[in-house]
Amino acid sequence: MNRPLVIGNWKMNLDYVEAVHLTQQIGVIVKNKPLEHVDLVVVPPFVDIRSVTSVVESERIAVDVGAQHASVHDAGAHTGEISVSMLQRLNVKWILVGHSERRAMYAMTDEVVAQTLRAVVRQGVHAVLCVGEELDVRRDDGHLDFVTAQLHAALEGLDEKWRPLVTIAYEPVWAIGTGLTATTEQVRDMTEHIRAVAASLSLGEARVLYGGSVNADNAASLISEGRVDGFLVGGASLKADSFLAIGQAAHDCYAGKR
Ligand code: PGA
Repeated sequence: MNRPLVIGNWKMNLDYVEAVHLTQQIGVIVKNKPLEHVDLVVVPPFVDIRSVTSVVESERIAVDVGAQHASVHDAGAHTGEISVSMLQRLNVKWILVGHSERRAMYAMTDEVVAQTLRAVVRQGVHAVLCVGEELDVRRDDGHLDFVTAQLHAALEGLDEKWRPLVTIAYEPVWAIGTGLTATTEQVRDMTEHIRAVAASLSLGEARVLYGGSVNADNAASLISEGRVDGFLVGGASLKADSFLAIGQAAHDCYAGKR
């Protein structure tokens, strides 16, 4: 098992005042009970990032800050977009790439996902590539092929030097924000599949996360039986205690296996 990574994707929630408050709460809890075996990342909306990084830096909180998306372009006439270099200036270390909400609602094609991933890693920022099937694909038993195609589209031909910056998050669309978590068997089967595909693309070292209705109650079994390297958490990351309970489950699993 790789060192676990637990990422809180705040999506379009929390204004900058609320974001600062949540960051401070996270800081208090991790100072009292450090999770030394886990990498923690919070991913606020763009407009909160500066405030969150200021709190993290001034209070020396052991979390990294990420972003939910970035432009494929570095600068120029792209109204409404934010570039990787702008995020990097804010000390953003992680960027989500191809989250299913962006693929479905903002027409992010496999091609744009591949370009975005390259734009991110070229700047030395970690890319969290999100993959996962819709419910009808799962019902037709096409989920493995579907995810294979997404991985190939995004990762094929990626220059060797950028590969260590890639993390893969398996997020079945039917489990996101629905309270319907994938079973530990479904997670384990897909995780093994993703590891095999990643290895065939020379990315065998990449961490593989699970996301989709992860909470404080199911995290321990998902990480130990699902054999993932951590989680991408949405709803349960909006409260410090549930987010860090998930971090604690990952921490305990890793500590127990070492
Ligand atoms: P959820 O979201 O935990 O609320 O299901 C996960 C995600 O979209 O990353």
